[in-house]
Amino acid sequence: MSINDIADKLESFRNMGYIIPHKSLLKNPQQIEGIRKSGEITTQILDLLEKEVKPGITTAEIDKIVYEHTVSNNAIPAPLNYDGFPKSVCTSINNVVCHGIPNEKTVLKSGDIVNIDVSTILDGYYSDASRMYMIGDVSPNARKLVEVTKECLDIGTKQVKPFGSINDIGRAIEPFANKNGYTVVRDLGGHGVGIQFHEEPHVNHFHLKDMGFLILPGMVFTIEPMINEGDYRVQIGYDNWTVTTEDGSLSAQWEYTIAVTQTGYEILAH
Ligand code: MF3
Ligand code: CO
Repeated sequence: MSINDIADKLESFRNMGYIIPHKSLLKNPQQIEGIRKSGEITTQILDLLEKEVKPGITTAEIDKIVYEHTVSNNAIPAPLNYDGFPKSVCTSINNVVCHGIPNEKTVLKSGDIVNIDVSTILDGYYSDASRMYMIGDVSPNARKLVEVTKECLDIGTKQVKPFGSINDIGRAIEPFANKNGYTVVRDLGGHGVGIQFHEEPHVNHFHLKDMGFLILPGMVFTIEPMINEGDYRVQIGYDNWTVTTEDGSLSAQWEYTIAVTQTGYEILAH
């Protein structure tokens, strides 16, 4: 397509009601490669934690593993000092939805479900991914929540294609979560990532009917649904970080960093 054809095509999407992403949000191949390399470290750390995270470990020990592995790869943990966040990783247990702060006192015990959210800066490029870890023997209802939430992430990811809408993601995720008896957190979402930790667009995981952001090749963003066993409402703790479910029910989350390609998507961190 010529430059003029592309401009005409974007104008027609604008006329349909889509928000056209600013060209600064479109990464070039060198930038994508930088984010891919950063993502490899993030993914390695999440893999490493599969072996290390078991009953008896403290969240401070998890933080130390993440810090050490990151700096030994000449990278920086993105959470550390981000807006005053005091640690290198977020550890969110059971009713904690996200942004839990690691500490020496919190010991993981059999039955816990924990989200570990790793974000890495390598040569200035950011990547961001998280997984759930099931500690020891986990109840069938907790296991189901963890598994359905992973499916929510994968269903949302499959929506990603050039000239789709960023809102296709939430339109796919929310009905699937609801069908399983769960709710989708509305106050927090995914985000553009790569050159900064949090860029446009914001990625909602619930149903919105407006056209929303147009998806274009070169965009890089996260999908990171937070799914609750009970009510969707959340609250923030006195530390100004820890987000918990308002009703105390369990919450789960999984996250990928995704690049939009000419034909679909590539997962850069998982
Ligand atoms: N990693 C989180 C995300 O998915 C952001 C955490 S901000 C922090 O967007 F400061 F808490 F690390
Ligand atoms: Co994120």
